[in-house]
Amino acid sequence: MRKLIIALLFTLPSLGMAASSYIPLEKANIDLRDQASLQRGAKLFVNYCMGCHSAQYQRYNRMGRDIGLTDEQVRDNLMFAGDQVGDTMTIAMPAGDATSWFGTPPPDLSVISRSHGVDWIYTYLKSFYVDESRPFGFNNAVFPDVGMPHTMWELEGLKKAVTETVIDADGDETTRIIGFEQVKPGKLNANEFDQAARDLTNFLAYTGEPIRVERERLGIWVLLFLGVMFIFAYLLKKEYWRDIH
Ligand code: HEC
Repeated sequence: MRKLIIALLFTLPSLGMAASSYIPLEKANIDLRDQASLQRGAKLFVNYCMGCHSAQYQRYNRMGRDIGLTDEQVRDNLMFAGDQVGDTMTIAMPAGDATSWFGTPPPDLSVISRSHGVDWIYTYLKSFYVDESRPFGFNNAVFPDVGMPHTMWELEGLKKAVTETVIDADGDETTRIIGFEQVKPGKLNANEFDQAARDLTNFLAYTGEPIRVERERLGIWVLLFLGVMFIFAYLLKKEYWRDIH
């Protein structure tokens, strides 16, 4: 027990420090049943993410069916020439090149929403800011010193971080990001960009578990079935035991 308390005392301050450099996560408020949003998200994913990231567990035609598109629509709007509609959403960038360009290879994003959670992804997409000290000129408030450039800067425009420096009781200074200031407008206004980030997050939540909507729909029927079965099983049990009790 003593050891545990000592261990906790040591970890608590470091948790506090880690938290101070992150901004609070915003709620993604996604809706997996909103097919228009999923379609917009798929389009953004193909145009702004698939240059570097794959979604290798996802097939184009399966994705199209799930989000309400025909094979033709998928082929005309979401695919690069040369790919077949039954292919998985892989990319041509060799991992070795990617590592030398970005320091870290861009991970496959099929199940990224499962590991980070949707609120993290939504906030991450909205937290890129101009930082000249970084190789691509951008940093991220949710993922400090990230190796990924702000690929949607033309849509969002450019933001600077607004920081605050606090001095704690021990005289230690910490600078943390408390918000952003727009320095150059993008093609979308703030609300439109929020919606784009939400659509993209929605799409990544979908690829993380494509069967989810169906699973929830079936689950209700399974529970109803069990409920009805219970009534019959109970009546049958009463019938069997009537002569014994
Ligand atoms: C120019 C290449 C490039 C493009 C385009 C790109 N990314 Fe990235 N992304 C990266 C790299 C490199 C990393 C790894 C960063 C690191 O670990 O420092 C990364 C990391 C990420 C992560 C964090 C993964 C983790 O393991 O924590 C997410 C989420 C992500 N990208 C989402 C996106 C989305 C969504 C788009 C489309 C809007 C996108 N990326 C476009 C290069 C790219």
